[in-house]
Amino acid sequence: MKINPFKLERYFAKYEFNTKYLLASSDCESLSIEDLLALEGDADSRFKEQWLGYTESQGSPALREEISQIYESITPDQILVHSGAEEAIFTFMQAALDPGDHLIVHWPCYQSLYEIAASIGCRISNWEARAENNWELDLDELKGLVQPNTKAIVINTPHNPTGYLMSRETYQETWQIAQAQGIFLFCDEVYRESEYDPADRLSAACDLGELGVSLGVMSKSYGLAGLRIGWIATQNQDLYQKIFHLKDYTTICNSAPSEFLAALALRHREKLTGRNLNIITTNLALLDGFFARHEDQLSWIKPKAGPIAFPQMIGHVVDEFCRQLVIDQGVMLLPGTVYDHPGNHFRIGFGRKNMPEALARLEEFIS
Ligand SMILES: Cc1ncc(COP(=O)(O)O)c(C=O)c1O
Repeated sequence: MKINPFKLERYFAKYEFNTKYLLASSDCESLSIEDLLALEGDADSRFKEQWLGYTESQGSPALREEISQIYESITPDQILVHSGAEEAIFTFMQAALDPGDHLIVHWPCYQSLYEIAASIGCRISNWEARAENNWELDLDELKGLVQPNTKAIVINTPHNPTGYLMSRETYQETWQIAQAQGIFLFCDEVYRESEYDPADRLSAACDLGELGVSLGVMSKSYGLAGLRIGWIATQNQDLYQKIFHLKDYTTICNSAPSEFLAALALRHREKLTGRNLNIITTNLALLDGFFARHEDQLSWIKPKAGPIAFPQMIGHVVDEFCRQLVIDQGVMLLPGTVYDHPGNHFRIGFGRKNMPEALARLEEFIS
């Protein structure tokens, strides 16, 4: 398999573990194992008793039971646990697509959402989110992109990098278009449950019907990226079986300690998402002031969900700005060029507790 380098991951690899202030992270503030175990009285002793043999390839029944609680109509046997969302994107694309197929992708986006399909030999059409439309997607454009050999529409809501949350109407209409064509709606929902107003939360794609596929993960809204636990949820048994068979060639099964901790965390998921939403909303209030003070140099579309946004820089070249900022202030932003986006944008992350310090340094630099 030949595949292009993952630009965003390569950028993170360069800075993530040697830069003091990560002001571009898309995951929320994490926890220690000790913090997690403290959520249940006897968890500490149960964790120590955890057997370290192979686990069930689909994911442990206890974990799948907890994951199924996130959805309306999904049963544990419709969940397939993976090593992070990244592995699940890989297996879905390998299972659903053949060379010559066509894929429509909400763009800009996390690169694997189209790059894996490209490596299989698929043709990709971008369904483009534009800043001048407040990152809103155009349904007429989507209708125009559908071709006889289109196999799936890939969307990501809440969205990386813009923080865009699809409206209920656009989401329903997108689902109708997928259904009418008999193609998958693959919804990357890794930022779900981080809507600032819970009333804005969309139904999960897997709850819509057999052609809906949901991608979930412990990394983002729950802040537990180090567990490397993600999953596919789908009612489609044919797709499920294909993905299940592919896992034998990727990871076979998941880490037993991670499965234990993920199930524990999900039993308390409202506590975890509530804590992270608190951090996000506190930081957002600071960002409101910051962007107002620097509107001559920066403009942003305030998100409705998630810990990231994609502001535009005016009067600086974003790559050079980010490079100099890291050197001068030890603050990492993510230039929009890693998404191949030409608009001089950057990704800012505000799901971490030390965001105010990082922002103060950015402000010193920009002033
Ligand atoms: C939209 C999106 N999907 C999938 C992933 C992959 O998640 P993980 O690294 O937890 O596997 C990410 C990570 O940044 C993401 O932003």
